[in-house]
Amino acid sequence: MAKILVTGGLGFIGSHTVVELINAGYEPVIVDDLSNSDPKIIDQLVKIIGYKPPFYKLDLCDEQGTKELAVKEPDIVGIIHFAAFKAVGESVQQPMKYYRNNFYSLLNILNAYDGKPVNFVFSSSCTVYGQPDNLPVTESAPVKTAESPYGNTKQIAEEMLMDMQKAGSSYKVISLRYFNPVGAHPTALIGELPIGVPQNLFPFITQTAIGKREKITVFGDDYNTPDGSCIRDYIHVVDLAKAHVAALKLMETETFKGYDVFNIGTGKGSSVLEVIHAFEQSTGEKLNYQIGPRRGGDIEQVWGDVTKSKKVLKWKTELDLDTMMQSAWDWEKYIAQNPL
Ligand code: WQD
Repeated sequence: MAKILVTGGLGFIGSHTVVELINAGYEPVIVDDLSNSDPKIIDQLVKIIGYKPPFYKLDLCDEQGTKELAVKEPDIVGIIHFAAFKAVGESVQQPMKYYRNNFYSLLNILNAYDGKPVNFVFSSSCTVYGQPDNLPVTESAPVKTAESPYGNTKQIAEEMLMDMQKAGSSYKVISLRYFNPVGAHPTALIGELPIGVPQNLFPFITQTAIGKREKITVFGDDYNTPDGSCIRDYIHVVDLAKAHVAALKLMETETFKGYDVFNIGTGKGSSVLEVIHAFEQSTGEKLNYQIGPRRGGDIEQVWGDVTKSKKVLKWKTELDLDTMMQSAWDWEKYIAQNPL
């Protein structure tokens, strides 16, 4: 079976992608430094996929260690690169931590397999668009000045990959611009595991519903949106994981030209207040929330145009907001009863 290296493979999106790779007949090899993931996710994966994929605990900022990995795993035909720091707010506080980690890890992994015909899927983000002038935002929209060092690392990394490809690299590359990944695997055996107080809306909602948090603060209801709260394109993590398989398949075709970029979202926007009310509807749980001040770095509204992903990537979402809520809630209840 075709071996695919999954860096950050024990993380939220990485672990769900490992499952979908196996469902599609690939053989994942997991690399993770465990800085933002739990090693016990491996045991959870075994419960879902029935075997233990190879796992290397490695910080890809370690250049020698990354070279040694390529010697141990020479027959990798694809790399899905998730390994990066991703907290928007933290990146504003500690920019150099983000530039160092996100660039050294990318450069080292690219260098380690340089010269080999590898299909490379890069974990990018809708944050590269900033606040788009037109919605839904298409891949050809101008990339604006990033709102955070995190978003800047994604913008610069995309440019590095394009330049590498133009210079005649052995790699083929697809950048996937994720919108807001949420939800959990239908088995409720894997899901989002935020460390400490959750930064993101969905885990904060489920932790409030389960009683771990007292209430949700809605960061602003004075935006220029129908109900005043921010709008995002929330996508189920399983749909997102399947997009990575679609990207590998596209790069395996003769027609693929070397570099491309795709929006990975639903094409629909939901406001914070709509999400809160939808969670209450979907689960029957009453949520305690208050309106608070805006959060620095937030853009007002963004949702993706996914026409190109449907047409070229041959991928589209299948799971709706209700399924996102239910699966996130089932996972929260599971992890409350079965701490890892
Ligand atoms: C969503 C909305 C908040 C928490 C995320 C990832 C980022 C990127 C894009 C992949 C915002 C509001 C939140 C809370 C709130 N994904 N909110 N109260 O900021 O869109 O970014 O998706 O690269 O990496 O972080 O997601 O869930 O933090 O916020 O009102 O307690 O919910 O203001 O409008 P965001 P988020």
